[in-house]
Amino acid sequence: MPVIDKERPVLVTGASGYIASWIVRFLLEEGHTVHATVRDQSKTEKVAHLTEIASRESGQLRLFEADLLKTGSFSEAMEGCALVIHTASPFQLNTKDPQRSLIDPALKGTRNVLETAKQTPGVQRVVLTSSVAAIYGDAIELESAPGQIFTEEQWNESSSLQHQPYSYSKTVAEREAWKIAGTQPEWDLVVINPSFVMGPSLSQRVDGASAQFMQSMGNGQFKAGAPDLYFGVVDVREVARAHLLAGFLPEAEGRHILVASAHSVLEMGTMLREAPGGQYPFPKKKLPNFLLYLFGPFQGFSWKYLRRNLGYPLRFNNRKSRAKLGLKYRPVAETLREHIQQLDEDGLL
Ligand SMILES: NC(=O)c1ccc[n+]([C@@H]2O[C@H](COP(=O)([O-])OP(=O)(O)OC[C@H]3O[C@@H](n4cnc5c(N)ncnc54)[C@H](OP(=O)(O)O)[C@@H]3O)[C@@H](O)[C@H]2O)c1
Repeated sequence: MPVIDKERPVLVTGASGYIASWIVRFLLEEGHTVHATVRDQSKTEKVAHLTEIASRESGQLRLFEADLLKTGSFSEAMEGCALVIHTASPFQLNTKDPQRSLIDPALKGTRNVLETAKQTPGVQRVVLTSSVAAIYGDAIELESAPGQIFTEEQWNESSSLQHQPYSYSKTVAEREAWKIAGTQPEWDLVVINPSFVMGPSLSQRVDGASAQFMQSMGNGQFKAGAPDLYFGVVDVREVARAHLLAGFLPEAEGRHILVASAHSVLEMGTMLREAPGGQYPFPKKKLPNFLLYLFGPFQGFSWKYLRRNLGYPLRFNNRKSRAKLGLKYRPVAETLREHIQQLDEDGLL
């Protein structure tokens, strides 16, 4: 049970990402020194929001260049750090070459960062951003889950390179992390398993799956009807807060499901329509399943995916995150409303 030295820097990998940006912001607000890695430091527009936050907060921000696929590239950034928060990993749902674009960066990247942690004196804890995608593969699996609820005990055993490759990338990366953590005594591993993350972004990037889903809710893509798919949803600010709690609470251990509540796409549309300013063409009805079977394959939904997910509600047990990390969840309706508001204000709808 290490007492993490808060005076020493905290490393955040993939710091310019959607979730990581909120982690960096909270760390800077608390006065920490943050070693933030980005893939390409010359792309200053990707970090402008971070440098702006650093200019008004008490913490110090230092930027480093590092790539998940370049062995050793995290060494310099990790030097002197007590806490390593590893968030960097691609989150794309439609990709032609999943091995290259998802599995390699997730798995080799986790190996790269954690092996560097083994070689860096003074690292006390590693917090890994995994996902509920490492807990279950398809919604149908809820039927055979003990008590018909997903918990931290479960592992995704159905995803593969061919079926749900993003979920597969998160599963193999988390498994690898536990394996490496078990080979050394210097630091412990704490894992965060968020469900679908929504809520306002600190940057105007829309290349991530969360922003893209929210854009499709607001731009009329589901006007003809929403697919009968269900997601656990959690606010990005809760996800970021959970990383700090998992990082600094000495007794934090193991995996943590983060979910406020689970909803269908149509339920999310209804919440958005009923909110003040709900003027966008949010979905109003369900898309008939047969239409998805007809057209889904052209939009990246395989029949296998549809058979195993369409019409299957989800349930998650978030008790551990509340009891052990002390996390409090805001209502999903507030999260969705504030995300649409941010996209609207930034002219991204
Ligand atoms: N969003 C969700 O709903 C959700 C849910 C559960 C778990 N997660 C996990 O949360 C983490 C962050 O996701 P996010 O939603 O914040 O996505 P994001 O905004 O797309 O951030 C992904 C980050 O990974 C970095 N990255 C990708 N490939 C890299 C490479 N080869 N080398 C170095 N960095 C690389 C990106 O760097 P660049 O800035 O250079 O592109 C970016 O900073 C991921 O591990 C994701 O699997 C996300």
